[in-house]
Amino acid sequence: MRLAVFVSGTGTNMAAVLEAARRGELGPAEPVVVVCNVPGAAAIDRARRAGVEAVVVDHRTFADRGGFEAALVAVLRERRVEAVALAGFMRLLTAAFLDAFPDRVINIHPSLLPAFPGAHAQRQAVLHGAKVSGCTVHFVDRGTDTGAIIAQTAVEVRDDDDEARLAARILAEEHRLLPRAIRWLAEGRLVRDGRRVRVSP
Ligand code: GRF
Repeated sequence: MRLAVFVSGTGTNMAAVLEAARRGELGPAEPVVVVCNVPGAAAIDRARRAGVEAVVVDHRTFADRGGFEAALVAVLRERRVEAVALAGFMRLLTAAFLDAFPDRVINIHPSLLPAFPGAHAQRQAVLHGAKVSGCTVHFVDRGTDTGAIIAQTAVEVRDDDDEARLAARILAEEHRLLPRAIRWLAEGRLVRDGRRVRVSP
């Protein structure tokens, strides 16, 4: 399954996916391109150093969201991409993009959705006084972090945690969860039943 990974920043989740592929732990998934919307983001060089093509599609150079998403789809069609993993990608994708890859766009979010959707999820958890948070891989739908949940890992919130300490502990679990979810997707093991997703043996 030819995979694209979308990034906007540091790219450690993307790096974990590429490393899993190198170790043969991504099953039939083959990361063929990294797409970044932010010129100069660290993820770009990280991808190229790992030997994967990185393409910059700067959302600011398009008059509207439609133009940006059409450019994204073109990059993917040119490379016969079949699925997309969002890994720290900070742009919302609309139906125009999602309908081009039905049930083939997944995202990693640093909280146990539906708790703490949106930005700064780790900070939300600390400020709210949550005792447990974690990370979620879900299918991307038209909402913000509202798609059907594929997998989650719980992470304890400690009394002395601040946003950075909790984020670092969650990030380590994200690096394990996203490659696993990508492998299941590529193996055709994700069975959808409305909002519920089952991983078939
Ligand atoms: C991760 O915590 C991810 O869950 C969130 O943004 C962060 C991206 O980190 N969306 P990185 O770019 O993968 O290092």
